[in-house]
Amino acid sequence: MGAKIISGNELSKKIRQQLRVQVEELNRKGIYPGLAVVLVGSDPASQIYVNRKQKACEELGILSYPYALDEKTSEEELLTLISDLNKDPKVNGILVQLPLPAHINEDKIIPAISPDKDVDAFHPENTGRIMNGNPVFLPCTPAGIMELIKESGMQVEGKKCVVVGRSNIVGKPMAMLLMAANGTVTICHSRTRDLEEECRKADILVAAIGRPEYIKGSFIKPGAVVIDVGMNRLESGKLVGDVEFSTACEIASAITPVPGGVGPMTITMLMKNTITAAISK
Ligand code: GUN
Repeated sequence: MGAKIISGNELSKKIRQQLRVQVEELNRKGIYPGLAVVLVGSDPASQIYVNRKQKACEELGILSYPYALDEKTSEEELLTLISDLNKDPKVNGILVQLPLPAHINEDKIIPAISPDKDVDAFHPENTGRIMNGNPVFLPCTPAGIMELIKESGMQVEGKKCVVVGRSNIVGKPMAMLLMAANGTVTICHSRTRDLEEECRKADILVAAIGRPEYIKGSFIKPGAVVIDVGMNRLESGKLVGDVEFSTACEIASAITPVPGGVGPMTITMLMKNTITAAISK
């Protein structure tokens, strides 16, 4: 038995076509959505992600304003740039690619972004809104995952959802969106006792732990929907997720691939948030 492969590439293409039309309509009204994309340093994975974000902007007719800053950029310099971007009317969204170099404190940078331009939804005002159930911007990766789950055909309401990983970017906001959709949510992490047993209870399993192929087929309840957020580069150069795809496919009813699953959806949701920011300005 093989699981249905939920293609993030295909779903992204569909959603991006709709977003493109929306941007054209806005352009006719004189509104030109713009996204500032800030990268500090030269982390190769971050460079790839940032390039993809800029390409997605181009594809949709969203204006992108790239800022590639030197690794040695100071916290003050970055704060000055953010302050300028906050005031710039051409810029509707500000994205600061994470992780930042070690000498820059993320907790000083993220709160400096205007909440109205915080298209990643990382600002405490926006995370608070997500927690309270009245978000302006949905967190990109979790929002993309909700679309992928919808595409699987499984309803979230009343289902047992297990999120493996408790990061601020994925695990925590993911749990909030699943709960808002009336799922019964468990968050597991590296200190969870008997993780395998917890995972096996899940109708919907979201893996975001950052350990290559950690979740095996034996962790999965037969018929479950499995979403793999992992992006792990093996020594061989191969890119794999947090789920062992070959064994998981035998047990799950639907699964996202890596690459081509969650990744493109995250970027699509970022584009959606940028359009939301431009409309609500
Ligand atoms: N690093 C890993 N994921 C993300 C993301 O969604 N946004 C930003 N800004 N940085 C990231």
